Amino acid sequence: MTTIDGSGPGSGVSTPPFLSSISRRTSISLSLPASRRGSGTVPTMTGKDLPFHHRTHEDEELPHATKKTMADHLRKYESLFTLTPQRMRMIVDAFEETLDKGLQKEGEVVPMIPTFVFGWPRGSETGSYLALDLGGTNLRVCLVTLAGGGKFEITQTKYRLSEEQKQEEGELLFDFCAKCLKTFVDSYLADFDLQGAAIPLGFTFSYPCEQERIDHGRLIRWTKGFGNPNVEGYDVAAMFRASLAKHNVPVELVSLINDTTGTLIASQYVNPRTRIGVIFGTGCNAAYMERIGNIPKIKHLGLPDDGEMAINCEWGAFDSFTHEHLPRTKYDIDIDQTSNKPDEQAFEKLISGRYLGEIFRLVICEMIDDGSIFLGQNTYKIEKPYVLETAFLSLMEADPTEELLTVVGIFTHFYGLETTLAERQFFRALAKLIGTRAARLSACGIAAIVSKMGYLEQGCDVAADGSLYSKYPGFPDRVHQGLFDIFGPKGNNIRTVHAEDGSGVGSAIIAAMTNERRAAGLFPHC
Ligand code: BGC
Repeated sequence: MTTIDGSGPGSGVSTPPFLSSISRRTSISLSLPASRRGSGTVPTMTGKDLPFHHRTHEDEELPHATKKTMADHLRKYESLFTLTPQRMRMIVDAFEETLDKGLQKEGEVVPMIPTFVFGWPRGSETGSYLALDLGGTNLRVCLVTLAGGGKFEITQTKYRLSEEQKQEEGELLFDFCAKCLKTFVDSYLADFDLQGAAIPLGFTFSYPCEQERIDHGRLIRWTKGFGNPNVEGYDVAAMFRASLAKHNVPVELVSLINDTTGTLIASQYVNPRTRIGVIFGTGCNAAYMERIGNIPKIKHLGLPDDGEMAINCEWGAFDSFTHEHLPRTKYDIDIDQTSNKPDEQAFEKLISGRYLGEIFRLVICEMIDDGSIFLGQNTYKIEKPYVLETAFLSLMEADPTEELLTVVGIFTHFYGLETTLAERQFFRALAKLIGTRAARLSACGIAAIVSKMGYLEQGCDVAADGSLYSKYPGFPDRVHQGLFDIFGPKGNNIRTVHAEDGSGVGSAIIAAMTNERRAAGLFPHC
């Protein structure tokens, strides 16, 4: 999820020239009672102030939807976006079946990827490791020092990826990662005498990769809007190694992991009740620990049946291509069909932070088209795909003011649109519907793993990270409510816990575990 830059020109109060009709209406609104208009700022979740210019005008001359019509609209969207417990249980059953299928053979829609992370960390892993985390929105470089006993220290820098970087030639993307890593090494590790040794690196690459061993991963497909050519089908670890060599970065790529596996392992390092790791961010996915005997598709490796290996589910792909189980609305179908990967990541497209704002925007555009809102206003700004970020839904839901001044601020500042209180209440309710559906579907995914693994009776912790989980108001509570609706009171035995920095710390722990196995002569396969 991205942060809102609320520092626009003139604190958002000045009216842009293209909104001449609004400028005219500013003078009309001056006759309204003082308490119903004004300018100022409201604090946002990101710590920045969001400017607003408030002109309430229920009775102005330009047409606005009435309270009653907004209530009618809301009822329609409620029925589209609400998931009943019964429907959720049906989804869980289909989900569980799909997870089982993925363990049987290669090429299934939900690939259930064996990660070659063997079992839980002992908690006593130590040493300093670099971790590079290529996520959906940012690139993070971390230096993690594991102190043993579940303790660690982390130093990190973050780079925002531009939309162009997500589409450029694959080699350039890995070159960029290598250069960022080099800058980090030069600034933070210059004083270390490495005595010619390369620094061990854990690479968190959060896209579906088929693995033959832990330091290898063939990209199955890009997700989260990435489309860099010449990476799908290739070993991304090898591509990254080539970039590291090209830029003379003194590191050795030890392990390639997914962010969910990192979250699972990092959380277990400090909390032994952890059984599942989930990410609800720009993308969504889960990992858990499976008994090797229950992974028929790797039987040929001859690993001990009673050993354990983490599975990266890649559950974002659930219901892709066939679209049999998930309740897709026409807005979801529109997003899917206009995406760079139509028909793929069907589950993720209903849930993750990359898409929720866009679902909301498509509903708004439909209402603009049928003349229900913003009549007579210039709406071109909001009609551009993906201009409405999921962070705005969070802000609308979290608006503490009675008049919904944050919502005023968002619509005037970013889209030059005026709103009535009835409209704002509707927008907030719509954000809630979309956010709640995402949380309840997320609960279905968790429930499928819980049910498959038989964790319900004893209960377990689910390590969760990602901007949606950590920043969207009420998201964890809605997931918990969803688990209750699926399982009844026993659903309370399943608790999600915020696991920060899993993809960095987890990568370091896994690199440490891998080095220990190497030292014990167990690499690559057990
Ligand atoms: C990717 C997963 C990743 C998830 C969360 C999905 O789009 O396919 O590999 O774990 O996003 O980052």
